[in-house]
Amino acid sequence: MVSECAKLSPNKIPVLLLNPKNMSRLQNKVIIVTGSVTGIGKAIAKRCVAEGARVLIHGLEQDLGDQTVAELGAEKATLVIKDLADEAAPQLLVDHCIKAFGKIDAVVNNAAQVGTGNIQTTDGAWFRRMLEINCVVPYLITRAALPHLRETRGSVINIGSVNAYSGEPNLMPYSVSKGALMTLTRNLGDTLMREDGVRVNQINPGWVLTENEAKRKREHGLREDWYADLPKVYAPAGRILWPDEIAACAAWLLADECGPISGQVFDLEQHPFIGRNPPKDSSTIPSK
Ligand SMILES: NC(=O)c1ccc[n+]([C@@H]2O[C@H](COP(=O)([O-])OP(=O)(O)OC[C@H]3O[C@@H](n4cnc5c(N)ncnc54)[C@H](O)[C@@H]3O)[C@@H](O)[C@H]2O)c1
Repeated sequence: MVSECAKLSPNKIPVLLLNPKNMSRLQNKVIIVTGSVTGIGKAIAKRCVAEGARVLIHGLEQDLGDQTVAELGAEKATLVIKDLADEAAPQLLVDHCIKAFGKIDAVVNNAAQVGTGNIQTTDGAWFRRMLEINCVVPYLITRAALPHLRETRGSVINIGSVNAYSGEPNLMPYSVSKGALMTLTRNLGDTLMREDGVRVNQINPGWVLTENEAKRKREHGLREDWYADLPKVYAPAGRILWPDEIAACAAWLLADECGPISGQVFDLEQHPFIGRNPPKDSSTIPSK
């Protein structure tokens, strides 16, 4: 059920209504959000603009990018369509942002290669692609942006996944790439904070209802509204998370009120991930 503080967007993914009291924490900031033409990245970009920032929108799909910029307003958003597999992408994002807005206050490394794989199905090329797009490229974007982030005493958010700690069996290379990203966050969150005054933090989303996630699960054979009644072991609230709930945390991490917090990883799920011992399935293992 949708709570009072949310309304349904046209694609049925709830959109949180923003609290007007907290609407200007990112006033005048300039923020690059990769993979922001859909899903969590788009929700973060929208939240940044709602709180006063200008954003660089980035992704693969030109039509969705144009639509996102139109929604945000051309004076608040600029668009780069570029495959992150292209070696020129990190510097291009930085140069475009400087040309459009003159500075960079933050980078949100959100774009990711998502896909399945286990030891039977993952060859070297697929494993390398995961590590490249999900860890090496966020590193290279951070590296390219560092001279500008140093000037603004800015920050970086890496979007990981709760799969980073071990991961679903058939998400092996994806999970490893997010684990590597988590170590990168902690390492740079220490070094860059001390040496450059730049904060680096990570959000590990749990299971989030995005357009692409809804589509993926339908392609896996689940029914149209598969997310409406998931078992409590995955969704104690009776629903999975919404992109705007991840964006709310990102806005705080990007804001000055976050202070010097750096090198931290925030798991955003509705149950603990580390150390969880989920209830047994009583049809096979009786609890009494
Ligand atoms: N949805 C979830 O349940 C979930 C859970 C945990 C973590 N995450 C993470 O959240 C982030 C956003 O995921 P989402 O669910 O919103 O996905 P999404 O598919 O809606 O968005 C991914 C974005 O990345 C861009 N992208 C993908 N590959 C790219 C490439 N090679 N070059 C340039 N752009 C590329 C796409 O254009 C798209 O805008 C990802 O890092 C993902 O791993 C999502």
